[in-house]
Amino acid sequence: MNKGIFVSFEGGEGGGKSTLIKMLEQYLCSLGFRVTIFREPGGVCISEEIRSILLYKGMEPLTELLLYAASRAQLVPQALQPALKENDFVLSDRFMDSNEAYQGYGRNLDLKMVKEVVALSTNGIRPQVTYLLDLDPKIGVMRASAVTITRFEEESLNFHNRVRKGFLAIAEREPGRIVKIDASKDLKTVFGLIITDFTHRFLEKTR
Ligand SMILES: Nc1ncnc2c1ncn2[C@@H]1O[C@H](COP(=O)(O)OP(=O)(O)O)[C@@H](O)[C@H]1O
Ligand SMILES: [Mg+2]
Repeated sequence: MNKGIFVSFEGGEGGGKSTLIKMLEQYLCSLGFRVTIFREPGGVCISEEIRSILLYKGMEPLTELLLYAASRAQLVPQALQPALKENDFVLSDRFMDSNEAYQGYGRNLDLKMVKEVVALSTNGIRPQVTYLLDLDPKIGVMRASAVTITRFEEESLNFHNRVRKGFLAIAEREPGRIVKIDASKDLKTVFGLIITDFTHRFLEKTR
């Protein structure tokens, strides 16, 4: 049995995933918990290689989906499941929901097919909670372009709006797992919202 609790952060570009995941890691470490962070795609050598292939231009949507799935199919057994055995918390910067939002809603691949491919890739591992950092893409893309170049930044606003709609649809379908956070608020407020939920879910019981 896994000892650790698996938490993912999702949402469009610039919502604050990478920033907030580090803040949560720091907070949990300060309380004495053992914490590991992964990012998708990536986290182990083969998956990091796949991440660099994903930067190629002119990729077919199906190729893109399968590469994300391949990255996860390697990450989960090689590193994520072992990390769940050894840590109190495993945090992931994106996980399966990004496939449905980006390749399903964003790239218009068949949603049923996307879900089937995703199910193949996770080895049955699901986050206990997912923080969805929801933000108007107009603001998000502006924030993100100051930090990193991703393959999705050059996409149209329409694309990013479809991705946002996708995440919101998943949130409606799985309200017990997905916590929608208004990421337009200042960083301290957003982190406070996450900590409040997180404490209520996990820390009050374990202490
Ligand atoms: N709530 C916020 N308010 C203002 N700026 C933010 C907020 N959250 C994140 N940022 C800033 O936006 C940029 C992108 O954040 P990042 O954590 O890289 O987002 P993501 O990983 O979701 O793309 C960073 O410069 C970060 O400091
Ligand atoms: Mg990031």
